[in-house]
Amino acid sequence: MGDRVRVLFVCLGNICRSPTAQGVFENLVKEAGLGDQIVIDSAGTGDWHLGKAPDQRARQAAQGKGVEIGHLRARQVSAKDFGGYDYILAMDRSNLTDLEHMKPDWYLGHLGLFLPFAPQSRYEQIDEVPDPYYGGFDTFERVYELIHQASLGLLDHIRQHHLRGQGQRGQSHD
Ligand code: 4NP
Repeated sequence: MGDRVRVLFVCLGNICRSPTAQGVFENLVKEAGLGDQIVIDSAGTGDWHLGKAPDQRARQAAQGKGVEIGHLRARQVSAKDFGGYDYILAMDRSNLTDLEHMKPDWYLGHLGLFLPFAPQSRYEQIDEVPDPYYGGFDTFERVYELIHQASLGLLDHIRQHHLRGQGQRGQSHD
């Protein structure tokens, strides 16, 4: 799979949660000086929103935190993605079940839920990023926060397991 670490975020529609995760994680990775070390994308298990920009509410919640996701466009996950990503991270169990059915036998990467990478998810006893589609704006803000926490944890995990000593923070802390 090459030298770079490849991460794919997956939700149902690819217009709320996974594009938010892509935007948040891309920002963190850039800030850490690791933009050329980590490849990031997102996709949906469903096909209803193909080619569409993120939901206005997701976009607004992200913009409120300085993260622009309006340029992203929805695409559907496919079996081919298992050849391209070391980490395939599902927002909820339903997404994960769909991905498990698609997973080829030879896949050796990490297929799992995203939220457990957030340090506090264990004691808060939640491991899914809830589907915000039928919720209010407060649900989108909550989803943003969960995604931000999980993104911080994921970056730490990748640094420890794949990129020891690289990037700005690594140089000052390792
Ligand atoms: P997402 O949210 O999976 O976070 O992108 C949803 C978007 C659309 C629908 C459901 C969830 N939908 O039913 O169209």
